[in-house]
Amino acid sequence: MDSRVRSPKHLPLIAPSILSADFACMGEECDHLLAETKFQGGGADWLHLDVMDGHFVPNLTMGPDLCRCLRARLPRAFLDVHLMVTDPAKFVEPFAKSGANLFTFHVEVVTPALAADLASKIRDHGMSVGLAINPPTPVDAILPLLHLCDMALVMSVNPGYSGQAFIAHTLDKTRAIRQRLREDQRLQMDGGIGPQQAADVRAAGCDVLVAASAIFKHPRSERAGVVAALRG
Ligand code: DX5
Ligand code: ZN
Repeated sequence: MDSRVRSPKHLPLIAPSILSADFACMGEECDHLLAETKFQGGGADWLHLDVMDGHFVPNLTMGPDLCRCLRARLPRAFLDVHLMVTDPAKFVEPFAKSGANLFTFHVEVVTPALAADLASKIRDHGMSVGLAINPPTPVDAILPLLHLCDMALVMSVNPGYSGQAFIAHTLDKTRAIRQRLREDQRLQMDGGIGPQQAADVRAAGCDVLVAASAIFKHPRSERAGVVAALRG
C-alpha cells in the first residue's frame, strides 16, 4: 500500500491536473510544478492525469504513453490517473506498466461486483484504488463501495473539460462520504476549484484538491502562490 495515499506527510494534498498545461512542453510544465513550486514554498504534491475516451465523456485527452514519459522524466512523482472512460478494466495493465500510482475509475460504469473485481485487479498491479462519482449520481451509488478504495473522488463539475464552474451542491456529497471513510482513506474533489472555492472544499472534508485552470492560467512564476492558496 502506498504510504503517500494512506499516511501522507501533510494534508491537504494539492494535485494539479495537467489537462490545462501547455501540451507542447509538458515535461517542463511538470518539472516546474513539482520542483520549483516546492522551492518557492507552494509545493504541489501529486500530478493528476485526466484520461478521457470520447465516449464516457465527450473529450479525448491523454493515455498511457504520456504517463510512461512522465514516469521516466520524474521517477519520484506521484501519478494520480483519473479514468473518465467507459471500460476502465482494459487500461489497468497499460497504466500500471506506465508507472501510475493511483488508478481512479467511475462508479457510473461498474456494477458492485465489477467494482470489487476491478479494485483487486488494480491492487494486484501495484496501484492504489480511487472511486469517482459524478455530480448527478446519487451518493448512495458510492457509499456501499467505499471499503474497496483508498480514495473517493467527488466530481464538482460534469467531467469533460477544464475551466467549468464549481457545482456547489457537490459539497453535500463530500460531507456525506467523509463521514463514512476511515482516516487513512483520502477524499478528493475535482472540477472548478480555485482559491475562492478551496476553503469550503477543505471544510467539507476533502483532503486532496485537484485544480487545472486555476493553476495553469497563470504564468509559471505565479503558480506556487496559487498552490499555496489552495492548500490554505
Ligand atoms: C474534469 C476533469 C478535471 C478538470 C479540472 O473534466 O476531471 O480534472 O480538468 O479542471 P478545472 O480545475 O479547470 O475545473
Ligand atoms: Zn480529473
